[in-house]
Amino acid sequence: MIFATTSTPSFTNVISTITATEIFVLSLVILLVFSWYLNLASVNAPFAGYRSWFEPTFLHKSGKFWVRRIDGDTLILSNNYLEELRLFPNTVLSNAHAQYQNIKGKYTYASVVLHSILHTRVLLQQLTPKVGFYALRSKAAFDEAFYSLMPRSKEWVEVDIQSVARSIVARMTGAVFLGAATARNEEWLNISIQYPMDTFQTAFQLRMFPNFLHPLLARLLPSRYRLQGHRRRAGRIIQELITEHQRKVEAGEKTEDTLLEWMLDNAVGTEGSLEEMKSRQLVLTLASIHTTALALSHAFYDLCAHPEYVEPLREEIESVTKEFPSNEDFVNHGLQRLEKMDSFLVESQRLHPPVMMSPQRVARKTINLQDGTRIPSGTRIAFPSAAILNDSSVTPDPSVFDAFRSYRKRQVPGEKFNHVRVQTGKENLAFGHGKQACPGRHFAVAEIKVVLCRIIGEYDVKYWAGQVRPRTYYLDENVFPDPWAKLHFRHRGAGAEAASGKGGVAV
Ligand code: HEM
Repeated sequence: MIFATTSTPSFTNVISTITATEIFVLSLVILLVFSWYLNLASVNAPFAGYRSWFEPTFLHKSGKFWVRRIDGDTLILSNNYLEELRLFPNTVLSNAHAQYQNIKGKYTYASVVLHSILHTRVLLQQLTPKVGFYALRSKAAFDEAFYSLMPRSKEWVEVDIQSVARSIVARMTGAVFLGAATARNEEWLNISIQYPMDTFQTAFQLRMFPNFLHPLLARLLPSRYRLQGHRRRAGRIIQELITEHQRKVEAGEKTEDTLLEWMLDNAVGTEGSLEEMKSRQLVLTLASIHTTALALSHAFYDLCAHPEYVEPLREEIESVTKEFPSNEDFVNHGLQRLEKMDSFLVESQRLHPPVMMSPQRVARKTINLQDGTRIPSGTRIAFPSAAILNDSSVTPDPSVFDAFRSYRKRQVPGEKFNHVRVQTGKENLAFGHGKQACPGRHFAVAEIKVVLCRIIGEYDVKYWAGQVRPRTYYLDENVFPDPWAKLHFRHRGAGAEAASGKGGVAV
């Protein structure tokens, strides 16, 4: 109890009976109410989220509303605002600041993303223009490790596909960022899978509490101490790579042309320091590994739920492999010919996106929109990407998994190069949109197709008896499939290997 119960309580009596704990609880309540009031005051829009489950968000479809999150609110805008907002540079509307807030970057060592954009420059200026070159390299890493990750058994074997997908993607990404040897380095592979997990764990635990408690709580979280360990080990690995690169450059020897090397050669000022290079590589693991591995896992869950798509996809894989038998041609020309697979991936991501709100931005300056809306500096904004994709005016029968929707749209004259997985648009926000749309998406889609070709080509896959599509879990705006879900795989025999885009790589 907070107050004393004398018949005529004096102020001094009351104060003297308040304990330290009660003062703490009282301050907490005052701060919560105060921060709630401050948030309410910024943009005049209704709130959704912490009201009842039947909050009619569709009423706000073409307008704006707030979604509450304990660590700060987000203003959700209709995609009608996208045309106007998508061209703002990150100095006005910043994705990096939004992600920094999401992952509680101050406590998860991510401040490098606010210092410079070398990590996005390397993807836009090196990885994407040379995506075939790098996809080929990542395919080699995948093919090399394939049977150590997937059982080559003709009997049905239970496979934890999410874990296998993470291991595959870690190798494929590692080969491109840090080189072929590092893609085999179990220590790095382990860091690149665990670092994102411990970052998300730290961030989600902090996000359950108001911001002012974070400095204290962050000191108590085991996941944050694990991050420190990963960072020490990553530092040693990256330092060796930096030293080796410098030696080669000084000796005039050919370098491996990794993305780390490009960053070292193009770094300005402190961007090239070990501390920044290490942090940047680790931030890139956050962006690249789990997103891609989740997309792959969902593709297999959808294939099991809709086995009628296996044969058409296999036929397409076989015909493209026949047409482009060498690895190089397969990657450079064949992948984009996998139109049914591309469409399957669009549909899989539509129903199972990794996040419900995309793109997300933080206003770094006050913006006045054409309709008179004023977005004060510091406001978090986001677009309801999942709701848009599942709106029947955008996707007819949105609850139906119709894998070849985009494929059919592409058959209309003039539409061949539209409706593809890498494309972003007002109604396709899975990779964000505008100037800051995902810079790794061309590589991600190439990776996913390479892996799907090989696994769908070589394996049968199914749920075990009675199993249905794994449950989906939601954590704020993030979406995860059941982490314990398993699938059954069976190798189709040596004959199937030749028709899976495997190419000439010895395994
Ligand atoms: C299926 C896999 C992936 C999905 C669904 C995905 C999704 C996204 C989304 C929604 C954004 C925010 C874009 C925006 O705000 O407009 C983003 C940003 C980003 N992505 Fe991806 N991504 C994937 C794979 C990758 C890969 C493989 C890489 C690296 C090779 C990567 C690197 C990045 C980076 C660095 C950013 C931040 C860009 C910035 O701050 O300007 N992503 N991604």
